[in-house]
Parts: sequence; C-alpha cells; structure tokens
Amino acid sequence: MCGIIAYAGRREAEPILIEGLRRLEYRGYDSAGLATLTGPQVHLRKQAGRIDNLIRYLKDRPAPGCHGISHTRWATHGPANDRNAHPHIGGNGDGLVAVVHNGVIENYSALKHHLQEQGIVFQTATDTEVIAQLIAHHLNGDLMAAVRKVLPLLKGTYGLAVVSPREPEVIVGARLGSPLVLGIGKGENFLASDPSALAGNTNKVVYLQDHQVCLLSRDRWTIEDQNPERTPATVAIQDIDWDPGDADKGEFEHFMLKEIYEQPEALENAMRGRLDEADASAHFGGLNLDTQALRGMDRIIITACGTSYHAGLVGEYLFEEIARIPVEVEYASEFRYRNRPIERNTLMLAITQSGETADTLAALRESKRKGHPTLALCNVVGSTIARETDGGVYLHAGPEIGVASTKAFTNQVLVLTMLALYLGRMRNISSLQGVRILEELRAMPKMVHRTFACHDAVRRIAEKYFQANNFLYLGRQYLYPVALEGALKLKEISYIHAEGYPAAEMKHGPIALVDEETPSVFLIPRGAVFDKVMSNLEEIKARGGPVIAIASEQDQEVATHVEDVIYIPEVPEYLQPLVAVVPLQLLAYHVALLRGCDVDRPRNLAKSVTVE
Ligand code: G6P
Repeated sequence: MCGIIAYAGRREAEPILIEGLRRLEYRGYDSAGLATLTGPQVHLRKQAGRIDNLIRYLKDRPAPGCHGISHTRWATHGPANDRNAHPHIGGNGDGLVAVVHNGVIENYSALKHHLQEQGIVFQTATDTEVIAQLIAHHLNGDLMAAVRKVLPLLKGTYGLAVVSPREPEVIVGARLGSPLVLGIGKGENFLASDPSALAGNTNKVVYLQDHQVCLLSRDRWTIEDQNPERTPATVAIQDIDWDPGDADKGEFEHFMLKEIYEQPEALENAMRGRLDEADASAHFGGLNLDTQALRGMDRIIITACGTSYHAGLVGEYLFEEIARIPVEVEYASEFRYRNRPIERNTLMLAITQSGETADTLAALRESKRKGHPTLALCNVVGSTIARETDGGVYLHAGPEIGVASTKAFTNQVLVLTMLALYLGRMRNISSLQGVRILEELRAMPKMVHRTFACHDAVRRIAEKYFQANNFLYLGRQYLYPVALEGALKLKEISYIHAEGYPAAEMKHGPIALVDEETPSVFLIPRGAVFDKVMSNLEEIKARGGPVIAIASEQDQEVATHVEDVIYIPEVPEYLQPLVAVVPLQLLAYHVALLRGCDVDRPRNLAKSVTVE
C-alpha cells in the first residue's frame, strides 16, 4: 500500500520522482507529495487526489533540487486531504526532517500523546507524522543516528525514506514489514517501495530485508542491520529485466484491457520450460522440496487474499481431482490469527500476485514458525513472499498494473493445474493421462485467445445491463470460484453490488434478490453438472430474472432458455475456469466504462495491500 520513490543524484529530482510515482500509482492514489532539497532549504509540495493534481500544482510551484523523497498514498490514518498527504515534516515547523512512510504504526497514539506532553504540536491526523516528529526530536546532526534511535520505539510496519536539511546530501531508509528496494545508478542512487518505480533509470537493485537501514547519497550507499553493532548487511545486487513495453498501455485504452488481452501470452510464459514430455508431468525449478518430501504430504492448505484466494479455490478442485490430495483454502487474514491445529505432513501454499500482501505474508510466516514446509506462487520476482518462502513458482504473468487482477488470476490457475499434474503423477495419474493433460494444457493459450471472439457480445450485454444495481454470478464445481471472481471484478471497478454463489445454493437466500432488474450471470458450459445448473437457471427464470449465460460454443439449447448468451470454447472441465473468466473480466470492464468509472484505479482500492 502506498508508494515511495526517493532520489539522490545530479539530475533534477522532481521529474524523476513524478515519473516514479506514476509507476507506483497502482499502490495507492488518494494523495501524493514530494520534498526536495536545495542545501538547507526543503521544498514541500503535496496535494490530495491523483498524481495529476500534484503535477498541476507543481507547474506554478516547481520543487528544485537534485535530491528528494516522494510518496503516493492509500489513506490509513486520517482522511485523504492535502494536509495528511506525505511527506510529513518533523521539528515543530523548523523543517528539520521530512518523512515518507508505507505501513502502519500501531502505537502512534501513545507516542503522539507523549510528544504532545513535551509541547510538540502536530499538524496532521497521520501515524507518519509521529515518526517525523520523533526523528526531529532525536536529531543531533546525524540523521542516520536519529532514525536508528527512533526505530525501536515504533510498533507496526514501515518502509521509510527520510531527508533533512541538516544533512542535505543523504537519504536514510528503513524497512520492517513494508518493502523497500535500493536502486544503484551511476552518480545517482534511488530508494523505492517497488522496483517498477526505477524502470528506465537503473536495473541494479538491492532488496532491503526487515530490520535493515540504509543510507544513500549520489555517490555511495550502505545497508546495515538495525542492531546496536550496526553490522554491515550482506547484500546481493540483482539485475532486473525491464521490458520497456511493460509499463505503457500500447494500443489499449486501459491497463486492464491490455492485461486481459495479454492472457494467452502470459499462459505461454508460465508453461515455458515446465512441461515435461518424458515424464508426462510438469516440473519446476524452485520447489526446494524433493519428490519424497512432496509424496509424503497428506494435505495442502492454500492461503491467499482477494483474487488469489479465488484461484486457490480452483486449486482445491484441481488438487483433489488430479492429485487426490485433500485441500483447504483459507483467507490469509483469518488463518494468521486462528491458530488452527494443522496436521503433520501439511504443505502450506500461499498464492499472491504482488508477493507483498501483508496478511498472506503473515500467514506464510506463521506456517514456517510452526514448522510446515511452505510454497508460494508469486508474480513479482524478488518480492518479500518470494524471498521468504521455502520454495515457490513464479507466475511469469509480467507486470500487472490494473488494480483489478486479470492475467495474474489465469496464470495462478494454470500454475496450480501444472502443480496438480506434478503431484498427481506421484500418486494416481498414469503416464498416458499425464500426456493427455499436457496436450490439453498446451492448447490453452489458443483457447483463451479464441474466447476473445465474445468481446462484441459482451459489450452489447454490458450496454443492456450497466444500470442494474445488483448482479448475481452463479456456477458450480470448478466454476463456482469463477462466479466469485466475476462478482469481485464487477464490484471492484463498477461499484455495482454483485454476489457470487454456488448455483444450487442460491435458493437458500440470494434468490430473494431476483427480480426483472437483477441480471444473473450463469456459468453453464457443457460438463458433468450441466443439467443441474440448467435446473438452477430455470429457477431464476421462473421468478422473472434476466439471465446471461456463459455457454459452450455451438450450444444452441441454452440460447432458447435465456435472454443473452456468451459463447466460450469447449475445453475439458478442469480447464474451464481459464476460458470462463475472460467474458466476466470483459463484462466488468465494459460496465465500469459505461458507468464512467476509473477502470485502472477504482476508488478505495490498491493493487498491493501491505497493511493488514
Ligand atoms: C488487493 C488487490 C487484489 C488482489 C489482492 C491480493 O486487494 O486489489 O486485486 O487480488 O490484493 O493481492 P495479491 O498480490 O496477494 O495477490
């Protein structure tokens, strides 16, 4: 949550910070600000609203200097107004330090009270100002020393960047629970919450670990542990592969649409080098668990949030059917505090696009603490979860910028299918069955591409229903999680109330919502439960509810029962989520457009949720 980019170099900082903030806007976008330095002078500029507001503001009031920090905010403490935007100033108006912060300081109220008793006057309602005031309070010519004194007082999470006119050449950073990465340039250095902010400037990065602090100026950088001995950290400089096309929308109007259309290629990338003809299985480089250990697992617990949780639910069906392993799927936010008994030989599997979701990270750490082997499916290379998990599989979906997740979901489902095949081949899947699954997997990028043929039909249906106040999404078996995901997509970006339900379960409550104004999206491709879903569909029709059916190509029968049909290619049932979710993504996209919503940056949401 929230984005940080800081710069120390020889170029003007403002355009570099603004460009970085634009790349980070997906992390939060309710206000933005920066502070640059020219010698002893701090130039503070901040504005509520999108980064464009800040840019307009800077036109008349440019922030000079080759050294600065900046932030885009997702509000936690205090409303999203100019005053609460970061950077925050500490020093009772003297401008002694400026701080940007990601995370949450849980004991800020006690700390604030303590400082107020000493006469310090606060300007904002934020927890971050407490950090700024504390650092200013301890500052005695050495910014790093002051930051180091303050960190042990803070309870909660932080990624910090701090500057002070008292030491105008340096930026100090610190990390606990909120990601921070140092970018190394030539005659310039950067600090950011996410390497994507550095694209175009440097591809050399060092990820800070929790409990590390760093200091950078234009010509040098150091990272040390927070311990009193100030042990220099062992650092690994990593190269990031940037694809310059990744960060722009190309021919598409929105990132979300671009990412929907990238799905066939993303699926190819996730499969590349992982399908093993000789073993009739899949293989992965980074599981870090040998065949025997995996064969010994009696249960899998999947933990995740949001869209990744829905992928996990598809995984439950896949692992149980293909690998015959019992699976439970848990919201990470519930799992981390539940202290549920976990049987021996349980594999913990975390699923996350960003690799930074606070609850998923906490659930992973809790599982490790209890001694269970952990695996993670992550999209962002080098993210915290990717680094902390025992073993893992990268999704290779490429950067996902639209806040509503699309290609990460399909790649998660695909990787889960490959993992189910791999585990299944150790248990009950013959090599002939394995070969068949490999063939079916290979066909999926084409199948998803063919699904785009429904785009015009989806657009027309969106025009028909975009003014509805409620939607139901119904499916069974593999398509129940897809119904949840379809409803989530619509809620996230169009702000229409939508419920996803197992199709048969809807008569235990949601059917009471059905009327002529409430469309139901039925996932009803041909498969084992087709007739059952058809009965559920009739129950809605009998109550006057309009139905949009997602049906198999060539299925003429469904069309005679419903108002609108969207056709998807016929694929085996266990692969239907990959094609069935596409029209639901497109439907949400077009409904949101027609309602005038900001598709890529929906209100109140953020792409990466690093607070619990
Ligand atoms: C946020 C995003 C969702 C995402 C969820 C989990 O809510 O807006 O799109 O599904 O976090 O994120 P993760 O990165 O762990 O998959």
